[in-house]
Amino acid sequence: MHWELNADLAMRHTMGCPARAERMVTVANIDDIRRVLSELTSTSVPAFVLGGGSNVVFTRDLAGVVINMGNRGVSVDASDSSGDIVRAAAGENWHEFVWWTLEQGYVGLENLALIPGTVGAAPIQNIGAYGVELKDRLHSVRAIHMDTLEEREFSLSDCCFGYRDSFFKSEPGRRWLIWEVAFRLSAETPLVLEYAELKRRWELDGAPCDARAVAKLVEAIRTEKLPDPVQLPNSGSFFKNPIVSAGHFLALNEKFPDIVSFPLADGSRKLAAGWLIQACGWKGFLENGVGVYPKQALVLINPGHKSGGEVKLLASRIQASVEERFGVPLEVEPLIL
Ligand code: EPU
Repeated sequence: MHWELNADLAMRHTMGCPARAERMVTVANIDDIRRVLSELTSTSVPAFVLGGGSNVVFTRDLAGVVINMGNRGVSVDASDSSGDIVRAAAGENWHEFVWWTLEQGYVGLENLALIPGTVGAAPIQNIGAYGVELKDRLHSVRAIHMDTLEEREFSLSDCCFGYRDSFFKSEPGRRWLIWEVAFRLSAETPLVLEYAELKRRWELDGAPCDARAVAKLVEAIRTEKLPDPVQLPNSGSFFKNPIVSAGHFLALNEKFPDIVSFPLADGSRKLAAGWLIQACGWKGFLENGVGVYPKQALVLINPGHKSGGEVKLLASRIQASVEERFGVPLEVEPLIL
């Protein structure tokens, strides 16, 4: 266990906003976690759990303690006819874990390659890309309650997953600290190749023959379309793709025939927020060190390492213009603190 005073948070979240934590503790195992939590509950000190920092924007310094998840380890726990249960510690790097599973011959996580962040953060927003969401592969989540220290295993249904959403994003859910995530993986899982961008590529270059080839294809697409946070600070998609009713969509489609959308099972439509933002003229916008990525309008960038407040301000301006033009509210995706 390692304590740091006045810790620099700019380097610990991918948007790179200047901020500090009064104290930060890096925990290496569940005993560390229990010890820290019991100290914090007995003194009523506020705590915030940090993973890879790829889905959080700091607008201010944090009082209390930031818990940095430093636990590591991956293991195959059990097997049945539908696959193996593979457990990974929350502090594992997501992309490295994906490649570990692929090297073992498992199929299932390849479409989620190159997503920044940690294993422990992945269930919180139910990470998803190229036709696969975390929930499609998840078995369970082990978590500890930050106030009562109760330890619990959450089943897939307990997690209440939705599009970029889970129980862990809710008010009660935020009191649970995730320390291990288990996946159900198999070598027999069919490849998912239907996402438009993925399909377009493999129809040109030939279908990928295995999961590793899919991961490489996904990496190529992501590298081309999304900025590397090390070079250009960003938090990935800054807004969720909004979902509108069938009626609302028809009215929009009549007025804006080029609007990009995806039908959902219940008849509603998911709109491409990137298209809405681009249509409002924001793509490539840069002012005062914060802006909109020129190749993907859903990604806000912070090349000037400006404050979280500046990023938030730009986000509000974008939300207002999209709402005014299309009557569609955009929901911010990362946690803004
Ligand atoms: N589009 C535009 N202009 C843009 C961006 C997109 O017109 O500037 C339109 C295009 O027609 C494009 C469509 O929107 O075909 C969809 O774009 P893209 O395939 O890039 O996906 P997205 O809906 O913008 C979502 C996820 C990404 C994920 C990709 C691929 C959300 C909020 N974002 O983006 O996830 O990688 O699909 O599956 O659902 C993230 O969550 O941080 C993230 C990067």
